[in-house]
Amino acid sequence: MSSKRLVIDYEEFSSVDKMSAADQELVAKALEAQAGSYSPYSQFQVGAALRLEDGTIIKGANQENAAYPAGLCAERTALFAAGANYPDIAPETLAVAGSDHGVLCESPVSPCGSCRQVMAEYQKKHGKPLKIILVGSKRIRKFQRVEDILPFIFDSLKMEQ
Ligand code: THU
Repeated sequence: MSSKRLVIDYEEFSSVDKMSAADQELVAKALEAQAGSYSPYSQFQVGAALRLEDGTIIKGANQENAAYPAGLCAERTALFAAGANYPDIAPETLAVAGSDHGVLCESPVSPCGSCRQVMAEYQKKHGKPLKIILVGSKRIRKFQRVEDILPFIFDSLKMEQ
């Protein structure tokens, strides 16, 4: 037996103004995307904005359903729209913002496990790191690749570790 430690590097910004112009734009689009949330059951409005490597930005928002599991998170609506409409263009950065009853959460919204797994799939498909920006009103976190929010990713039937 040997003990091992996993360290995750990420950036934390106290304000969007400290981010690059491109990331500021993407954060603004994620905030804007919340308007498309259909969330009568949770009243939790999540917006996602996905920038592809050619600069195209695709927005997504959570879509709920009376049969709860039939709904879908904001991240996956954006990722699946990109996969369906731009299958050959790699996704580069995904920004996500969430509001509770219309008030932007102080802490950055944290994507669910299924969304992380879907991010992993597209990152693997294109062979390029997918960056993730999680937006809160008090702080914004930026991760450089999906592994940083989903360690020990399952992305292949071939086990190598
Ligand atoms: N939700 C998202 O869209 N993304 C997240 O990262 C967290 C949760 C949605 C799912 C559901 O519509 C509502 O927020 C409450 O869980």
